[in-house]
Amino acid sequence: MRVFIIGITGAVGGLLAEDLTARGDVVSGLVRREAQRADLASRDVEARVGDIGALTADALASLLGGVDAVVYAAGSNGGTRDVTDVVDGEGVVKALEAARLAGVTRFVLVSVLPEAWRERHLDEDQEHYFAVKKLTDVAVSMCDLDWLILRPSMLVDRAGTGRVALGPAQPHDEIARADVAATLAELLHEPRIRRQILELNAGRRRSPQPCERTSETRETT
Ligand SMILES: NC(=O)c1ccc[n+]([C@@H]2O[C@H](COP(=O)([O-])OP(=O)(O)OC[C@H]3O[C@@H](n4cnc5c(N)ncnc54)[C@H](OP(=O)(O)O)[C@@H]3O)[C@@H](O)[C@H]2O)c1
Repeated sequence: MRVFIIGITGAVGGLLAEDLTARGDVVSGLVRREAQRADLASRDVEARVGDIGALTADALASLLGGVDAVVYAAGSNGGTRDVTDVVDGEGVVKALEAARLAGVTRFVLVSVLPEAWRERHLDEDQEHYFAVKKLTDVAVSMCDLDWLILRPSMLVDRAGTGRVALGPAQPHDEIARADVAATLAELLHEPRIRRQILELNAGRRRSPQPCERTSETRETT
């Protein structure tokens, strides 16, 4: 499989590139600087230089020839509102359009749990970030590609456990970026899982719970 990762120099994107390459997939991606391109080239990963804010959909589509899937793992991760709008919002819509122009049908977006941190007071910039992410999820979910949206919990840098909780609704907790990348790699190789929004959390051995309010609900009511 040939996979193009937007955000390949990021933590999740970089781990995903490693996982896919180890499986024998051909990975390429978008980077912002020539030094990043050269570094990836030394690891047999082809990267193209460009900024998602500056590229047109046509220009991005021209980088996607022969690709089977596009993964959008780029993000502002708490930048200014303008940067959030460009990278977490408009950039995703642009990448969707580019995928369609290039005839790439599989589009996977790394998003965020929209209900994250509801037990806290979020400032206006944080609310803006979650609103943009949610609107972008809506845009992806309305497109006619074989899209998939993965919403991980809070990302942490530690070794992967190989055990995750994946489903349509997960509590906001935390998950190792390595487990997110491994899950993305598995999902990319499972074409039957398509046109779904899936939430992702660290997996734990849990005995079945009676149906009741969650601890998060109890804290806020
Ligand atoms: N932080 C969390 O707890 C959390 C939780 C759930 C979901 N998420 C989401 O998960 C995703 C991945 O997170 P991460 O920690 O892997 O992110 P990260 O390490 O900050 O990586 C972000 C990536 O986006 C790229 N990027 C930023 N602006 C760009 C632009 N204008 N044009 C092209 N590429 C650009 C970066 O490139 P450079 O290397 O050039 O900067 C980098 O490759 C993000 O969308 C984030 O919102 C985060």
